[in-house]
Amino acid sequence: MKKIVIANFKMNKTPSETKQYLISFLSKYEDCKADLIFALPYTSLAVANFMLEGRQIALGAQDVCEDDEKGCTGQISGKMLAGSGVSYVLVGHSERRAKFKEDSKMINRKIKNGLKNRLSIILCVGESLADKNTMKTLATLKNQIEEALKGLYENELENIIIAYEPVWAIGSGKTPLPKDIENAVKAIRKVVEEDFSQKAANEIRIVYGGSINAKNVSKFATIEGLDGILVGGASLDSNLFLQIINAMV
Ligand code: PGA
Repeated sequence: MKKIVIANFKMNKTPSETKQYLISFLSKYEDCKADLIFALPYTSLAVANFMLEGRQIALGAQDVCEDDEKGCTGQISGKMLAGSGVSYVLVGHSERRAKFKEDSKMINRKIKNGLKNRLSIILCVGESLADKNTMKTLATLKNQIEEALKGLYENELENIIIAYEPVWAIGSGKTPLPKDIENAVKAIRKVVEEDFSQKAANEIRIVYGGSINAKNVSKFATIEGLDGILVGGASLDSNLFLQIINAMV
């Protein structure tokens, strides 16, 4: 199985900066090395969709509106994303949970709306520092996953990637020990087994994200049960991101 590598640009790069980045990146990247996904700001989707034409690299967005109602000024629907060449969408990123008050019900609705519009979902989950310090990591993961996947059919899990992103690791330069990531991955599969089936638990794809860079990436390449990585800040430099991908595959 190819490793999944997801770049999350967050709120970075204008369309012309994204274009410059992709010119440089695509001139050096060999397709098919990884299952590569660029999760870009909405404003960069059009230029990226044009530039990725014919390449085996998927386009992702960083959020989707939870419903298709008309009165949603400023929102972007799943249908609009699908019509813009997007095939993946991040849902429940901790920055959205914290800064935009996204709760578990909203996250569940976003997932359902994305799936309805044939988007694959990258569901972000992870414990806060307070959870970690009070040994509540596994309970938090269980709760976040159960709430997010409530009401889904087992076959819909094919279109879901779970991104384990401890809140305290995002953008902090701190990363968990490989053993702790392995335990979190096992715990996530256990929740999926309890709520769906052993088969679903074995097959669901899980990635790790939080402070991955070109220096520490190799330690994430061999973690048992982990299918790939999600890279934020370090994906913004195309050369560094290429180094990260090369270390993973
Ligand atoms: P980081 O971000 O790699 O900059 O820590 C990861 C993320 O927020 O998805």
